[in-house]
Amino acid sequence: MNPQEQSFQLPPAMSTAAAEIDWLYNFLFYFSLVFTVIITALTLYFVVKYKRVKGVKAEPTQDHTKLELFWTITPLVFIVMLFHWGFQAYIKNATAAEGSTEIRVRGKRWSWSFEYPTGDSEPNDLWLPVNRPIKLILSSEDVLHSFFVPEFRQKRDAVPGMYSFIAFTPNKLGDAQIYCAEYCGKDHSAMLGRVHVVTEEEYKKHVDELSKMPKEFADLGAAKGPVAWGEALFKKNSCNTCHSMTGTRIVGPALNGIFGTMQPTDKGSVMADENYIRESLLRPQAKIVTGYENAAMPPFVFKDAQIDALIAYLKSAK
Ligand code: CUA
Repeated sequence: MNPQEQSFQLPPAMSTAAAEIDWLYNFLFYFSLVFTVIITALTLYFVVKYKRVKGVKAEPTQDHTKLELFWTITPLVFIVMLFHWGFQAYIKNATAAEGSTEIRVRGKRWSWSFEYPTGDSEPNDLWLPVNRPIKLILSSEDVLHSFFVPEFRQKRDAVPGMYSFIAFTPNKLGDAQIYCAEYCGKDHSAMLGRVHVVTEEEYKKHVDELSKMPKEFADLGAAKGPVAWGEALFKKNSCNTCHSMTGTRIVGPALNGIFGTMQPTDKGSVMADENYIRESLLRPQAKIVTGYENAAMPPFVFKDAQIDALIAYLKSAK
């Protein structure tokens, strides 16, 4: 079967890992199918052949060493083969080629964040250059997540307190869906992202522009620019999942109208100013607002210009 094409069971293939994974998958599937048919047929045949018949008494069966050796060793040979092939593919997909582009993937409830070699990061959208070896370094900031892109035939757990790796080369232009494949709480099913496989030039251009204010916000004018950008960043980073801007309590405190006011925290009363907001983004556990001790916000990675935009947005929200 051509691994590049979508099939009834497999999504379209967009990475070099697909050929081997698809072959293994199809082999396992048909291998299981053949034995399921044989075993079911034999079971039914014997059920009929040895059914209870009036006047015939059941005789005890004797052991048969040769037969027992046969049905122990034959499956063992297949299982060792399957293990060998599976382990080989696993190692191949965890070993990065020389000169791979390293991208950090951070999972946190409930979004993905991608950090490029430039140090710039972006939530939920991953941009990859086509035909270049990629190494993803996975980690989690809270609980167990699993990074899954069916089109790349890649899935690996993001585990708190350790790194895990995926290595592959995307070989087809286009978009694919990123899933979280490990139940991680209330919004697990919404922990989605998009991967964009683009040309080398488009990739460079996108990464270069990450920490700069996008043109559409700059165009709104000096006063409105950072506020609009901050609002966009607030939504893009899913801050609004936990913080309302209308005064309602969700998971974390509402953030409208807090700028320039005193906030009760576990370190005493604190002025919600620029430095406090910056600290709360980068080290959320430094000062915890009274009543939100169990909210456990994960730290975020932002460039100064992005933090400034978020502060401008919070300042503007009454
Ligand atoms: Cu993260 Cu499920």
